[in-house]
Amino acid sequence: MKIISSVSEMQQQALSWERAGTQVGFVPTMGFLHEGHLSLIDLIRERAEILVVSIFVNPTQFAVGEDLEKYPRDMERDLALCESRKVDYVFAPENKYIYPPGASTFVSEEKVSLGLCGQTRPSHFKGVTTICSKLFNLCRPTWVALGQKDAQQVVVIKRMIQDLHFPIEVVIGPTLRDYDGLAMSSRNSYLNDRQRKDALLINQALRSGASLVEEKDVRNVDRVKAEVMTVLRQGSLLRVNYAEVVNRETMELENEIKPGRSMLIVAAWVDSIRLIDNWLLG
Ligand code: PAF
Repeated sequence: MKIISSVSEMQQQALSWERAGTQVGFVPTMGFLHEGHLSLIDLIRERAEILVVSIFVNPTQFAVGEDLEKYPRDMERDLALCESRKVDYVFAPENKYIYPPGASTFVSEEKVSLGLCGQTRPSHFKGVTTICSKLFNLCRPTWVALGQKDAQQVVVIKRMIQDLHFPIEVVIGPTLRDYDGLAMSSRNSYLNDRQRKDALLINQALRSGASLVEEKDVRNVDRVKAEVMTVLRQGSLLRVNYAEVVNRETMELENEIKPGRSMLIVAAWVDSIRLIDNWLLG
């Protein structure tokens, strides 16, 4: 496994793969890898001749006051995990080379990014689309793997890929859950036992809402949202940011539940820790 930290080396390497017709699979991450990331690596391993994982905690997707400084990091462990999953290249650039002094160009998607998480984190997706454009230009992948847990991010990035004509196919990996149902996330490492107990209500709320749709044929959005909220309100440390039923392809709010198309999506804080999760209905 080779580790590249230089932006120009990554670009030269990727250009030489491109010239040789070698197809690259790419998994962008912010590190502190868990089984969810590793499952994306496995998913893309099957198709790609070269597998590149990026590890970069991207400052532009954190707003002032968010958890950029304390975001968990463990490069040594991440590299060992990548090695064990037969990653070919890890791209771990330094911030000063990705955003050199004077850099003033950003990429922003201006529709899907506005709702849901975009309401509370107005600059977040602009940071995500900017870093993804840079990483796509540097690594020149044919496939990029993204996790379904970040459902809105998936739709935003797909939209950007389409709008900016990146020749990239998105491969979506299912949400991986811990033994207790909590969706895997690097941020779970912040949770103490009490907070984790309340965090689990997110998964339980999604399941309760989904069971109304899947077992009782409920199609009324308000009824399902009310069920989700009833479960979420049981958590004294839990503060709901949103609980919505959306079209999984567009993230637009649904008026009526359409199994196979609609998705339940929740964001909530447990104390100050912000967690997201979703459930495909039907
Ligand atoms: O999902 C993430 O970890 C990040 O948003 C991504 C896609 C790596 C961009 O920094």
